[in-house]
Amino acid sequence: MIKVSEEDRHWAEQIWTKITPKMAAQRERVGTKVPYIAVDGRYDDKMAANVYWWTNGFWPGILWLMYHDTKEAMYHDTARAIEERLDAALSGYEGLHHDVGFMWTLSARLDFQLTGNPLSRVRSLHAANLLAGRYNPRGRFIRSWNRNYTGWVIIDCMMNLPLLYWASEQLADPRFRYIAIEHADTALKHLVRDDGSCNHIIVLDPENGNLLEAPAGQGYAPGSSWSRGQSWALYGFALTWLHTGEERFGAAAKRIAHYVIAAISRHGFVPPVDYRAPDEPVKIDTSAGMIAATGLLCLADQAGDTEKNLYYDAALKLLKTLERDYCDWDTTRDSIVQKGSAQYHELPGEMGVPLIYGDYFFLEAIHRLLHPEFQVW
Ligand code: GLY
Repeated sequence: MIKVSEEDRHWAEQIWTKITPKMAAQRERVGTKVPYIAVDGRYDDKMAANVYWWTNGFWPGILWLMYHDTKEAMYHDTARAIEERLDAALSGYEGLHHDVGFMWTLSARLDFQLTGNPLSRVRSLHAANLLAGRYNPRGRFIRSWNRNYTGWVIIDCMMNLPLLYWASEQLADPRFRYIAIEHADTALKHLVRDDGSCNHIIVLDPENGNLLEAPAGQGYAPGSSWSRGQSWALYGFALTWLHTGEERFGAAAKRIAHYVIAAISRHGFVPPVDYRAPDEPVKIDTSAGMIAATGLLCLADQAGDTEKNLYYDAALKLLKTLERDYCDWDTTRDSIVQKGSAQYHELPGEMGVPLIYGDYFFLEAIHRLLHPEFQVW
């Protein structure tokens, strides 16, 4: 468990006293809508437009964290109602993709962890089976997306693997864990570079797993370093280390963390959208910082005594900097963390905006400082 200093615990408690009224008011307004982006202080209902959208688990995830801390029925009931809304995606099936891990870990699987609801366990196992079903045994990877992206693998998918570790434990069946480890090894080989920077996407030959291409994806250019992808890699490998105990994954998480810490130091702990893009125009992504901070806390939890402070201090520096400069605590407005960006190259309405996962990972990090024993992923 991470050892939180007195000073940092006090800081986290103060932040939580701001989170509590903010989330109570937001729950009143947003309810069972499932948001992605806030515009003018109002979250949308992305799920009404797309039940398969990859971010549909983050709002229920926030509600379950609030429920864990407060035990208030309103959080439980709203999160459960969203989980039921998500059943349309499980039964619809055709639009589902690799991000079933994100979607059901933070909805049904957290519900099961907190309440023991048997139907939530079934939903989570269903999602784990869908994820495992995307595994390519020749290429040794879980394929991303649908259509003709048969050999595409993205770094983000590392965050989906904890659902497979959980399914193996639940069913006392190692198959899911084996698939996750094979995928993590392929990601380590082709997505993580020697210096700890990462490709966002690799295209593998689906017949044999040979590397064909490494396009820019959401980053600036091929060979660059999309900051949120770096954060997914950092947290994802830290989690695979946690669930497997395999040192090579810990070494990978540390290598990525060292690269990220060096890169954000250049930018005052406010991540640019890509660490290898030109400095101008300035484009930032606060969500990359919140995910990196949460991942660094996970790494600090597992690292040896001589190194854990490096990760812990960097996590706290990120959280405190981003809270001071980019959080909106006005309870009449939805969203906390401002200035997230979906990707480097402009998507209208998706640059410099509040993103639901920026809020989610900020809450997870603060929650972790207050409840270091509680493991979400
Ligand atoms: N996983 C998609 C993204 O981070 O934008």
